[in-house]
Amino acid sequence: MSESPLQFFPKQLFYRFFLTQLLVAAPVLLLVVLASRFYIVHESAQIRSAAEIISLFDRTFFLLSLGTAVLFSGLSFWLGYRLIFPLGRIIVKARAISQKDYGFLSDNEENSASYLETGEWSDLESTLNRIERNLQTQDIRLSMEREELEAIISGITEAVIAVNREGELLFFNSQFAVLFGDQEEMKQKTQRLATFFRNPDVLEVFRTTLQDGLAHTVSTQIQLKNEAVPRYFSLSVAPLRLPKKDAYGAIGVFHDVTELKRMDQIRIDFVANVSHELRTPLTSVKGFAETLAEDVKNNRLELAPKHLGIITRNVDRLIALVHDLLDLSSLESGAELEKEKISLRELTEKVLQQLEPLAKPKGHIIKVYIDTEFLFADPKRIEQVLFNLTENAIKYVPNGKTIELRWRADPDHTIILHVSDDGPGIPAEHHARLFERFYRVDSVRGRDQGGTGLGLAIVKHIVNRHGGHVKVHGGLGKGTEFICCFPQGKDR
Ligand SMILES: Nc1ncnc2c1ncn2[C@@H]1O[C@H](COP(=O)(O)OP(=O)(O)OP(=O)(O)O)[C@@H](O)[C@H]1O
Ligand SMILES: [Mg+2]
Repeated sequence: MSESPLQFFPKQLFYRFFLTQLLVAAPVLLLVVLASRFYIVHESAQIRSAAEIISLFDRTFFLLSLGTAVLFSGLSFWLGYRLIFPLGRIIVKARAISQKDYGFLSDNEENSASYLETGEWSDLESTLNRIERNLQTQDIRLSMEREELEAIISGITEAVIAVNREGELLFFNSQFAVLFGDQEEMKQKTQRLATFFRNPDVLEVFRTTLQDGLAHTVSTQIQLKNEAVPRYFSLSVAPLRLPKKDAYGAIGVFHDVTELKRMDQIRIDFVANVSHELRTPLTSVKGFAETLAEDVKNNRLELAPKHLGIITRNVDRLIALVHDLLDLSSLESGAELEKEKISLRELTEKVLQQLEPLAKPKGHIIKVYIDTEFLFADPKRIEQVLFNLTENAIKYVPNGKTIELRWRADPDHTIILHVSDDGPGIPAEHHARLFERFYRVDSVRGRDQGGTGLGLAIVKHIVNRHGGHVKVHGGLGKGTEFICCFPQGKDR
């Protein structure tokens, strides 16, 4: 961009300077008049008439004053131009720097250099240029740092908010707006913390940090808009302060720990459930072992077989429980599946053979439909799925009812297992929790029948590990149907 040098010209300053010069010129002009007068007096000796004297005076005075005025004005103009021009340029630059108009300066820097005068003016101007360059570099760095910081803060999954000492919002990130914000409220600039939170824990921790200038953390429950249950947050608040100054505000980071809390609750429930499930058979084993010891001591052995039978049943139950727990843990820890081509006919026959002792006394009609022959999966795991579902049907369906096992293939290369019965059915309100560990529909009846509530949890884990899903159909009085889908992919 090429600019005219006149853009730097401080007109007012120049006019004032020029006027002052003219004022100085007045006494000089007086001196000219006096000089003319002396000259006339000296010359007038040879002049006879008054008219000649006056004409001589006029000519001399006019020429002398014109010459002096022209010389003086030229000199004054030149001096003003030389002095005021760089000064004007410096003033304009200083103004531009104060307004951070760096573009203006850089564009004109080369231009102005051509007008640089040697000496103090140019020193001053080049110093100003240096200051401008430093300020520009610092400004660019600062705005880059600010942008990076904003990108980082907006990118983190935690909600972040900063407030001043009066509790007014200084800053919040996009996650905060998503979780706690109201579009209308966020638009208003002077929003207060209390607008977003009624929760006393949140307000209290900010207040304490602003008061004592120390970082604090609090765990609290916050009810979010449009959510039915409150979420758990760990809120860390730290003071915002300049070096060696009091805190001018505080910054809070909301870490959503709802999932962690849920996992923790699952762990607590699991330990409680396992302990409970272990205690019942262990108490029984201990009790009957003591009774047996008494029997032996008193030589009354007629009840010993019965007591030994109870002990054995309870030990079996303990072994089954430990087995199921180990299965679950190996499935959860992501142990590798050993997949191979399984003959579904052979697998089903094997499972029904294993369950024969349980099924025979109950007189069920078990119908098997093998509409598809093969499945590519881990045979031991699939056997367990079929075993658990068929065992449930046998266990929970009254004698003489019908149980159906069906393997079929979907056109989208999914192999589907149906295990259905016309038993009492499972009330719909239990369906959502049926696949949780230790969940039993009727816990008393379930335990009487030796169940721990792990069978369906294991089924779900195995099917999921094979990339499939399991669902339950039916309801009270409508029988029960479990459906397991095993996606196979086109190449199988
Ligand atoms: N076919 C079914 N008909 C009626 N109720 C069923 C049927 N299958 C499962 N249930 C109910 O679902 C509950 C959970 O079954 P699950 O197999 O997970 O546990 P369990 O059979 O009690 O114990 P486990 O299988 O670990 O020995 C059972 O307690 C039972 O109440
Ligand atoms: Mg079961």
